[in-house]
Amino acid sequence: MAVSKSIIFVFFTFLAVSLVSSDPDPLQDFCIGDLSARPSINGFPCRNASLVTVDDFIYSGLVNSSNTTNIDRAGATFGTALRFPGLNTLGLSIARLDFLPEGIIPPHTHPRASEMVYVEEGSVYAAIVTADNRLFARVMSRGEVMVIPRGLIHWQMNVGRTNAKIIATLNSQFPGIQFVARSMFGSRPAVPDEVLEKTFFLDAAAIDQVRSNFL
Ligand SMILES: *[C@@H]1O[C@H](CO)[C@@H](O)[C@H](O)[C@H]1NC(C)=O
Ligand SMILES: *[C@@H]1O[C@H](CO)[C@@H](O)[C@H](O)[C@H]1NC(C)=O
Ligand SMILES: *[C@@H]1O[C@H](CO)[C@@H](O)[C@H](O)[C@H]1NC(C)=O
Repeated sequence: MAVSKSIIFVFFTFLAVSLVSSDPDPLQDFCIGDLSARPSINGFPCRNASLVTVDDFIYSGLVNSSNTTNIDRAGATFGTALRFPGLNTLGLSIARLDFLPEGIIPPHTHPRASEMVYVEEGSVYAAIVTADNRLFARVMSRGEVMVIPRGLIHWQMNVGRTNAKIIATLNSQFPGIQFVARSMFGSRPAVPDEVLEKTFFLDAAAIDQVRSNFL
């Protein structure tokens, strides 16, 4: 009985680990992505390892602020395998989020990754909504870290008087990002009015008004 229980335990632990794991494990020390090649099933083919240099392991794309000249007063710069080929096969990526006062990275999800956000400057109202519609939210201060489980809707909003800055790491080399409002009101081709009316209980004029922000 004890034996079969532990076998079942091992089986379910294995199942759980395989269900929650994100990107597949690498089979070599590194595999600097050859971005000139077409992606294969899960990432890019490796560049010739003899020609790899230290610069393939360093990404400078987060040195400057993200562009915050937009309606959200905030911007994100990503270091995924597409821009930082050293991440290829490693199941990791990074992003820098910059916020003007009152800026927001609006509600969105990462379909393929859990995330940690580290508040480097400012104070942000950070929130997660779970699949059963519970809101977990509070103001985070400099130095604090929030973990956002994979796939859940979340956002950050600058509630301080100064700019805010966040560094985010994600456990996928290409986590994906899907904004809730843009997906519904800014898709191409457009989601039909009737669907939006029935989903959000809005009339056609209100739908046009919301859509105009995503053109
Ligand atoms: C990798 O680069 C080395 C050094 O230039 C070269 O000798 C070797 O043939 C290359 N290997 C492949 C598979 O292209
Ligand atoms: C950062 O901004 C400076 C000044 O605009 C620019 O010269 C530099 O190339 C930028 N660096 C990166 C890594 O984008
Ligand atoms: C920031 O984005 C705005 C709007 O797209 C654009 O006009 C502006 O040139 C960008 N600024 C920089 C520094 O790239």
